Amino acid sequence: MKRKFAWVLAIGITGVLAVCAGGAAIAAWAWNRAQVETIGQVDFTTRMAIPPLAPSHVDSRGRRVFDLRAQAGRHDFGAGRPASTWGFNGDYLGPTLRAKRGEQVLVNVRNDLDAPTTVHWHGMHLPAAMDGGPHQPIRPGTTWSPTWTIDQAAATLWYHPHLHQSTEEHVYRGLAGMFILDDEPSAALDLPDEYGVDDVPVIVQDKKFRGDGELDSSGSTGGMGVLGDTIAVNGTVGAYHEVATQRLRMRLLNASSGRVFNFGFSDDRDFALIGTDGGLLPQPYQTSRIQLAPGERAEIVVTMRPAERVVLRSYPPDLGTNFLNERFAGGDDAFDVLQLRAADSLVPRAPVPGKLADVPRMDESSAVHVREFTLSGHEINGHKMDMGRVDQVVAKDTAEVWEVHNNDGQPHSFHVHDVQFQVLGGDGPLAGWKDTVYVPANSTRRLIMRFTDYADPDTPYMFHCHMLYHEDRGMMGQFVVVEPGQQPGRPEHHHG
Ligand code: C2O
Ligand code: CU
Ligand code: CU
Repeated sequence: MKRKFAWVLAIGITGVLAVCAGGAAIAAWAWNRAQVETIGQVDFTTRMAIPPLAPSHVDSRGRRVFDLRAQAGRHDFGAGRPASTWGFNGDYLGPTLRAKRGEQVLVNVRNDLDAPTTVHWHGMHLPAAMDGGPHQPIRPGTTWSPTWTIDQAAATLWYHPHLHQSTEEHVYRGLAGMFILDDEPSAALDLPDEYGVDDVPVIVQDKKFRGDGELDSSGSTGGMGVLGDTIAVNGTVGAYHEVATQRLRMRLLNASSGRVFNFGFSDDRDFALIGTDGGLLPQPYQTSRIQLAPGERAEIVVTMRPAERVVLRSYPPDLGTNFLNERFAGGDDAFDVLQLRAADSLVPRAPVPGKLADVPRMDESSAVHVREFTLSGHEINGHKMDMGRVDQVVAKDTAEVWEVHNNDGQPHSFHVHDVQFQVLGGDGPLAGWKDTVYVPANSTRRLIMRFTDYADPDTPYMFHCHMLYHEDRGMMGQFVVVEPGQQPGRPEHHHG
């Protein structure tokens, strides 16, 4: 009896060991495969594309009119084999829109794709019906013409589709662009401001390619959607930019699906962080790293020495999750992003001003309401996105505190439409206006914001995780802004 038991035990242990060895091998393979590092491996052979400034004209009613056309095309990312892509007014990405505070803009967005899409003005304060979220689909062959008056601080905003459950695919294929806002106080500052020369858009995205050169949109094992192994800047892989001035302003936009970047330079030099999502900071913040989650922007000014070459990198981001989630969500990845090539002699430029913008701190005591948002399992407060359900009703002209909890240990970035918020207790990169903020695992961000100017009980704005895969899977909700005392209406449920 005893001997038989020993045999059973021995066979059992051998079996377990065999399964473990197989499992361990698979785990080790997956573990190794999950990491991407391109430091020192990128040939910077292609000049960085600069998205053109979108032409505009002022119509008889004084509105600045832009035309965008979503279209299919083929784009060569640099490998010599073009991929099928989508773009605005071109094959990939879109032109940079630019307008001044106080101007009324009108954008004719024509959809020449064979699928419905939308265009959302990320970071813009505007009426809900103009917001371009899932309630404003643009059917193939039609044109949508939102109009609103720019009334917010100078900032680097952007635009991208927001189609129900399909945002990731539309952005990944190439539908995105920058929207730069100017105002008088920022124009009076001595900052680099020559577009495409010493003030450059830097739209950073990670891509994956199939063997035939086409974009690979398959999701990662870590539940983060597409995590690519190749970096494109303004649609250019292996990009360099020639610098002719002593100081270069870069408008960094993380337009990836789910990848968090932690930008810094190859020699670890300091740079000045001058602005975040919603505008300039009160004063420049000297740092050697700026981490951006999908949807976030940063304006930096870097000082160059004659004839040098320095590489903008993404170092392993701090995702604040456990080592396993960290690994499979890109937390161990590092990339060479963009090479800067300084001319032999550089045009001198003034140092960055010590004072940039007035950003009055919002006081918590001004908030009339505290709302809780728990992010977990592709849901917010236990609900998946439902276009027919209004999740939150906010009274116009009030301030609120939104407490955002990350409860599932996954990386999430929280974005609110229509407003720029402040992070309570935020300093450094969190000292200014934000519309998207990274929420580390098992932690809480407390945001304060004021809802002004526009009320519409029937048309919701969105709040959501800006990891596009999470958003598409349902990690999104809707709020309406109403006149005080007004009841919310019932939003329509649109189908693409
Ligand atoms: Cu950048 Cu709701 O989006
Ligand atoms: Cu947005
Ligand atoms: Cu998320």
